Amino acid sequence: MRVHVANHPLITHKLTLLRDKKTDSPTFRYLTEELVTLLAYEATRDIRTDKVTIETPVATTVGAHLSKPRPIVVPILRAGLGMLEGMTRLIPSAEVGFLGMVRDEKTLQATTYANRLPEDLTGRQCYILDPMLATGGTLIAATRFLLDKGATDITIICILAAPEGVAALEKALDGAPITVVMGALDERLNEHGYIVPGLGDAGDRLYGTV
Ligand code: URA
Repeated sequence: MRVHVANHPLITHKLTLLRDKKTDSPTFRYLTEELVTLLAYEATRDIRTDKVTIETPVATTVGAHLSKPRPIVVPILRAGLGMLEGMTRLIPSAEVGFLGMVRDEKTLQATTYANRLPEDLTGRQCYILDPMLATGGTLIAATRFLLDKGATDITIICILAAPEGVAALEKALDGAPITVVMGALDERLNEHGYIVPGLGDAGDRLYGTV
């Protein structure tokens, strides 16, 4: 498993605004989109392309087009939905699949309650969106789900991660073809499974407490 912590002053600046408890939901949503676009730039470094010859007004040149089949972006409901716009802004031609996972707040175990994904993901580049890599339970379950459908190239994009979550992913998915790209690696998890210093409950901050 490859882990990449995006290290850029603009990302740190936007993350600081996002973490601030005084930041309201509309601003939080907007900042999340901006951050994801920046993270997506890092996360798509190995996106597959094919050579293509085109004519500029001046000369013939060889460039690149995104390969087919198109990449698939999978936001984990609900908080991952807040990351979708920022991702598709960068890759508008990507397909979008949905995975609904819910975490039991007592056991911290993740279960699937919704799935709208192609049956066969063989050969597809997949980008999973989930803002918080906390215990890792949700992302382990989601990644296994995609691996079971044949995915061989999975990139997880998260805003923040805890070292415990990264270690859990590494242990559970040892040797799997996975890259994790994050805005920051925080200090730890607290006794409630929240990332410290973190930003609180990402879903609540994006959409309110319903
Ligand atoms: N999920 C969140 O939204 N926040 C955390 O800190 C941990 C998990």
